[in-house]
Amino acid sequence: MKITLTKSPKAKPDFGKLGFGKYFTDHMLVMDYIADKGGWQEIEIIPYDEFKLEPSTTVLHYAQGIFEGAKAYKDKAGNVTVFRIDENFKRMNKSAERLCMPALDSKKVIDALFELLKIEKDWIPTESGTALYIRPTMIGTDKTLGVHASHDYKFYIILSPVGAYYAHGLAPTKIYIEDFYTRAALGGTGEAKCMGNYATSLKAGEEAHKKGFDQVLWLDAQEKKYVEEVGSMNMFFVIDGVVVTPMLNGSILPGITRKSAIEVLKDAGYKVEERRVSVEELIKANADGKLDEAFGTGTAAVISPVGQITYKGQDMIINGGTMGKITEFLYDKITGIQTGRYEDTKGWVVKVC
Ligand code: COI
Repeated sequence: MKITLTKSPKAKPDFGKLGFGKYFTDHMLVMDYIADKGGWQEIEIIPYDEFKLEPSTTVLHYAQGIFEGAKAYKDKAGNVTVFRIDENFKRMNKSAERLCMPALDSKKVIDALFELLKIEKDWIPTESGTALYIRPTMIGTDKTLGVHASHDYKFYIILSPVGAYYAHGLAPTKIYIEDFYTRAALGGTGEAKCMGNYATSLKAGEEAHKKGFDQVLWLDAQEKKYVEEVGSMNMFFVIDGVVVTPMLNGSILPGITRKSAIEVLKDAGYKVEERRVSVEELIKANADGKLDEAFGTGTAAVISPVGQITYKGQDMIINGGTMGKITEFLYDKITGIQTGRYEDTKGWVVKVC
């Protein structure tokens, strides 16, 4: 691995006012895949800068691009840690397979990421609700307008000190159930973390924002009956004391926070069901006073309470529009494990330095 350090480090932002994804650290990791040179080349850590890409670069036309989201933390003793990073690279390789892209040597890339994190450790914020967001990305870099899998690729990791994903922090979000547009269909790329999935979601997101909602809750593409996910989060509902989340069906992203939340809740004695959840069931539960809580899970969103879900003009106000007890328990537990406030009994937290 080759390391070139910046000669002009940037001034750090106010870690108390970070927002999400607005600032980037001094360095990044890059690695090219060149088919004619035998595949993946040497990993380099270089100063954060622009890429030079020809306008014909294939990702700029046909979106052959995938990414991940992970977080690094600094605990009270100053140890730098990451949360379940192995799961991110497992998922990235699955996304790569789905998008006809080359697999990464996860161990080699994680080791190199740790070197990058050591260099950037002063960029890790420690204020409550903050972290250093890790964004590994891979793009097709052939220079061609032909539609086929690229031969060459660029893999890179950039780092961004972040606060809460939603501008209003932990205040419960208002979510709009989208009954026309579709995010992903079975056989499509819904369970891959690929760029196109997010582009697809923009139109409905914009329309929902205009109506005063924070996010769109997607339905299954075939019957428009079952809830799937919220683009940036997997969804959970507490119905009559039971935690229910849409089962992974091929068009839902297999969230790492989702998986962790299920384990933490089960360990704490909650009943958790992974199954199909219809809008009709939510409406009925709400009418019966049994839709106790709703929340989303995601790396960026962490555990995010949902205070209102609206379907075809019908509002479901959840827990009086406030954060519920199970949501609060989970937020505390997950962020506590991630930041070292609670003991990690599962080997999810790995020390970097
Ligand atoms: C993440 O949670 O890491 C994501 O990639 C979601 C994105 C919308 C920020």
